[in-house]
Amino acid sequence: MTEARANPLVRVRAAGKINLALRVGPRRPDGFHPLATVFQAVSVFDDVEVRHARPGTFAVSVTGPQAELVPTDGRNLVVHAAHLLIERYRLDRVGAEIAIRKSIPVTGGMAGGSADCAAALLALSVLWDLDVTPNELAELGGRLGSDVPFALMGQTAFGKGRGDDLVPVLSRGTYHWVLAFADFELSTPAVFARFDELNPAPSPDLDVPRGMLEVLASGDANALAGVLVNDLQDAALALRPELARTMDTGLEAGALASLVSGSGPTIAFLAPSEEAAIDLSCELGKAGVCRTVRRVSGPVHGARLVT
Ligand code: C5P
Repeated sequence: MTEARANPLVRVRAAGKINLALRVGPRRPDGFHPLATVFQAVSVFDDVEVRHARPGTFAVSVTGPQAELVPTDGRNLVVHAAHLLIERYRLDRVGAEIAIRKSIPVTGGMAGGSADCAAALLALSVLWDLDVTPNELAELGGRLGSDVPFALMGQTAFGKGRGDDLVPVLSRGTYHWVLAFADFELSTPAVFARFDELNPAPSPDLDVPRGMLEVLASGDANALAGVLVNDLQDAALALRPELARTMDTGLEAGALASLVSGSGPTIAFLAPSEEAAIDLSCELGKAGVCRTVRRVSGPVHGARLVT
C-alpha cells in the first residue's frame, strides 16, 4: 500500500467574513449578545489539512502570517472540533495531525478561528468517514463558536441569535473590498464589553437596515455603501482610536464606504469596481496606516474540500 493510501490527506478551505450589517442588543444572562447580522464570505482563505495520527493524539501546526499568535494545544478550536466529533459519534482509536495554513488575520474580526474550526469539522468528518449531514455539522459548529455555522455555509446570510441562526440571502454580482489588517489584535469579548459601557440600554428590537436585502439582490455597490452598519464600530474605535485614521485614509483614496469588520480591528473598504480596488489598495499600502492591505471579493463559498 502506498503512503498516500495508508494515510490520506484531507484538505478543506474556509473563507473569512465581514458583517455588512451588525446590530447588537442587550447582553443576555449567558454573556452573549443577541444579534441581527448580514454576513458575507470574502476571498481570504485558511486551509486546514488533516491526516491520521496515533489514537488520542491531536497534533496541531500553524503556518502563515501571525502563526505565532495561534495556540497549538488544546485551546485551539480545531482540537475542540475533534473532541466534539469523537464524543458525538462515539469514536475510539482515532487521532489526527491538523495543519492550519493561515491567511485570515488572527483575532481580526473576520472569524478566522471559526473558519479553521469549520474546516476542521468538515475535514475530520471526511477523514474519519463519518455520516454527518450539513445540518448536523452546523449544529456542532454552533456549539464551538457563534461564527462557525456561517463559516460552513459561506456566501451571504442573515444571522440572528448569537449569529448562528442562519438564512441564506440572495446576493447578485461580486463586491470588491480592500481590507486593512492591523498590526494589533482586538479581543471580541473586550469589544462587546466596551459596547455595553457605551450603550447602557440598547434596543432589544434588532433588525438589519431597511432595504439591505433588496440592495444585495440588486448588486449595486453604491447602494450597499449607504446601508452598511456595525454597532460594534464605536466600541472598537474607542479601544483603538488610531483605526479612525485608517478609515479616513481609505475614504480619501476613493472607497465608497469604510467599516470595522465584526469586532475589528480589520477595516473593510468597499470599492466601486475591481480597478478602483487596485488603486485603493496601492494608496492604503503607501499611507502606512496598517500592517497589510489585501484585496478581496465576495461573496464566496463556505468551507469545502479541495483536492
Ligand atoms: O462564540 P464566540 O466564541 O465566537 O464568542 C466569543 C465571545 O464574544 C463570547 O464569549 C462573548 O463574550 C462575545 N460574543 C457576544 N455575543 C455574541 C457573540 C460573541 O457577546 N453574539
